[in-house]
Amino acid sequence: MKGIILSGGHGTRLRPLTHTGPKQLIPIANKPVICYAIDDLRNAGITDIGIILGTNMPEKIKEALGDGSDFGVNITYIMQGEPKGLAHAAKTACDFVKDEPFVMYLGDNILKAGIEELVDGFEDSKYSARILLQPVEDPRQFGVAELNDNQEVVNLVEKPKEPKSNLALVGIYLFTKEIFNAIDNIKPSWRDELEITDAIQRLIDTDHDVDSFVVEGWWKDTGKPEDVLDANQLILETINSSIEGVVEDDVKIKGRVVIGKDTIIKSGSVIRGPAVIGSNCIIEGYVGPYTAIGDNTKIIDSEIDSSIVMGEAIIHCEDKIVDSLIGLNAQITTGENKYPKGRSFVIGENSVVKL
Ligand code: DAU
Repeated sequence: MKGIILSGGHGTRLRPLTHTGPKQLIPIANKPVICYAIDDLRNAGITDIGIILGTNMPEKIKEALGDGSDFGVNITYIMQGEPKGLAHAAKTACDFVKDEPFVMYLGDNILKAGIEELVDGFEDSKYSARILLQPVEDPRQFGVAELNDNQEVVNLVEKPKEPKSNLALVGIYLFTKEIFNAIDNIKPSWRDELEITDAIQRLIDTDHDVDSFVVEGWWKDTGKPEDVLDANQLILETINSSIEGVVEDDVKIKGRVVIGKDTIIKSGSVIRGPAVIGSNCIIEGYVGPYTAIGDNTKIIDSEIDSSIVMGEAIIHCEDKIVDSLIGLNAQITTGENKYPKGRSFVIGENSVVKL
């Protein structure tokens, strides 16, 4: 069995963070979101992985993942180019997967339970596709499945205005090569994309068997800033403590905390887990629960809680920072002049500031 991970798309809902890199590299608990998909595939015994690349700085994905050997897998890069839809992306992997069944994993999805159970038995089954479902509060932002009384999938619609159920399609699918024929027979949707949801519906309409699983543990599509912070919280819930850096005297550490190599936690600081602090950081102040701080960051006389600092940042700020996503190399500092009173910004396109 093979795996493909979709890593294209423009990531518009995550701007400005995606002005400087693809959304699949956004760190969740200090690890790029796409690495969780690689871990899941490898843990399910799938080591031959095709990464589908788009136009938003694909070289950064190649740089981060290399040939896959650091992750115990073998990576082949496949260029999709412009994001013409999930089904279009899948079709670009046709020569890579050949006749084998494969897992298609959306590179911005994270699933708590992994995919071992899902993959189990698919290869020898009668099914042409296996989909994962989860009840959600607002199904209108997802693909939505309708099941009959026997729990069989009868209807799938992408982002319906009036959903027939609350069962969203999770972004992890199992397919046999029959999906490629189905993709050849669908038309672009209202948003001008070839939808994988329509291709699976086509399988159903042409009497192929489609199996479904309702996922029990949490699942996150990290397409929007609030989802990224939620995913960070959920992953941090699962970490174990490990302290490699230097913790000076008179520091309070509570709960599970990871502190990377060459990081210094200055005297008087309080770190309340679950939290991860990368390597080569200087921390002086308060780092609260559900916070992930990337490498080479300086926190000076400041407080931060429930946030992601992607790295290389400087934070020296009077106000406590909460629920924030802070990009690489960002600076948040309190001005040195007392007058005139006010805030001073150098802010890029699509930034969000809440005072
Ligand atoms: O997350 C689950 C949802 O994912 C499903 O419920 C929907 O049925 C499915 O269509 C998809 O919806 P999204 O609107 O969230 O898809 P998005 O455009 O965010 O793309 C998902 C991933 O696939 C993302 O990592 C970018 C990548 N992608 C997307 C497109 C459109 C590509 O690699 N190529 C593409 O052409």
